[in-house]
Amino acid sequence: MTTPQTHGQHSRDAAEGAGPTVMRAAVNRSFGGPEVVAVEQVARPQAGPGELLIQVHASDVSVADHRMRARDLPPGFALVGPFLLGFGAPRRPVLGMEVAGVVEAVGSGVTTFRPGDRVAAATGAHFGGHAEYAVVRADARGAVAHVPDGLTFEDAVALVFGGHTALPFLRGGRVGAGSEILVNGASGAVGVMAVQLAKHLGARVTGVCSARNAELVLGLGADAVVDYETEDFTQRGETYDAVVECVGNAPFRRARRVIRPGGAMLAVVGSFGDLLAARWNQARTGIRVVTGDLGATSDDVALLMRLASEGTIRPVVDRTYDLDEIVEAHRYVDTGRKRGAVVLRVRGE
Ligand SMILES: NC(=O)c1ccc[n+]([C@@H]2O[C@H](COP(=O)([O-])OP(=O)(O)OC[C@H]3O[C@@H](n4cnc5c(N)ncnc54)[C@H](OP(=O)(O)O)[C@@H]3O)[C@@H](O)[C@H]2O)c1
Repeated sequence: MTTPQTHGQHSRDAAEGAGPTVMRAAVNRSFGGPEVVAVEQVARPQAGPGELLIQVHASDVSVADHRMRARDLPPGFALVGPFLLGFGAPRRPVLGMEVAGVVEAVGSGVTTFRPGDRVAAATGAHFGGHAEYAVVRADARGAVAHVPDGLTFEDAVALVFGGHTALPFLRGGRVGAGSEILVNGASGAVGVMAVQLAKHLGARVTGVCSARNAELVLGLGADAVVDYETEDFTQRGETYDAVVECVGNAPFRRARRVIRPGGAMLAVVGSFGDLLAARWNQARTGIRVVTGDLGATSDDVALLMRLASEGTIRPVVDRTYDLDEIVEAHRYVDTGRKRGAVVLRVRGE
C-alpha cells in the first residue's frame, strides 16, 4: 500500500495513527492517457480549522480533469503549464473538482455545517474529489452548500462544475431580462448550465450545438439552435448582447462581429494570448471581455441547489461510472463529445 500526498495543504494530510488513515482514491502519478489513473489506497485527509471532511458519494469527471491528467491546455499555455499542472509529476494526483456527500467531521471554528449534513462543493484547484473523502473550506470561498432533500448526490454534483462556471460569466456579462445571448458549445457541461441559467435570468438564448444535441438544448429552454456542422454562427447576420464561448474555436477576433456595441464576450475558454489581450480588446472596442477562472462561492453553489430543487434548472447527466471504472470515465470525457456531466459514483446513496 502506498500513501501519496493528495492535497497541497498540510492541514489536509492524515496524521499517522489518528483514526482511520486510509481511503480509496483514483490516483494519477504521471501525465498521460486515461490508463495512468488507478484506484489505490491513499492517506485519508482530515479537516483542519475552518474545514469540512466530506464522505464523498458522488463526484464528476470533467474537462478540467482531462486537462490536468493529459497536460492538455488551451493554445499558448505551454510556458505556464508546469506551474499549473506540476513539473515532473502531477501536482494533484487525485483529480475531481466537485463532490457531493455527507459531512463526516468539521474542523474547529465551523458553525454552519454539522456531521451528517448533505452537501455539495467545488474543491476547485485543490481537486481531490475522486476519493472516498475530501476536504473543503467551510466559508464562502469553500464553494460548499447544503443539498436539499429530494436532490440526489449524483444530480447535485452534476450541477456544480458547469453551474459555478457559468454563473459568474453571465453576471460579468450583465445578462438579464431581455438580453439576447449566444452559447457556443451549448451541449457541454458549461453550456447546458449557461443555457438554463441565462433563461432563468430572463434572456433569449441561441445555442450552438450539433444536430444530435439540438433536442437536448431546446429542451433546456434555448429559443433557437445553430448546427455548427452546417452553419457558422458568425456568418448568419444575427447579433447578440453576449457570446458565451465554451468551445475554443470562437476567440474574440471571430466572435466580435456578432456582438452588439456595448455587449460582452464571455470567454469561458480561450488561448493564453486571448487572456493577455482581453483588456486591450475591451478598451479598443467597448465590448466587455470576461475571461479567466472567475472562482466559485458557496452562494453560487447554494443558488444552483435551490434552483434545481425548485425545478428551475436540471442536471444533465450523460453517463455515470463507478470509482472502479475511472479509466473508462476518463476515456469517455477525452472524446470531447459528452453532453453535460459525467458522474463518478464513489459510494451509493
Ligand atoms: N474559465 C473557467 O473557469 C472554465 C471552467 C470550466 C471549463 N472551462 C473550459 O470550458 C470549456 C468547455 O467545458 P465543458 O465542460 O463544457 O466541455 P465538454 O462538456 O467536454 O463539452 C463537450 C461538448 O462540446 C460540444 N462541441 C464540440 N465541438 C463543438 C463545436 N465546434 N461547436 C459547438 N459544440 C461543440 C460537444 O457536442 P458534439 O458532440 O455535438 O460535438 C459536446 O457536447 C473547456 O475548454 C474547459 O476547459 C473553463
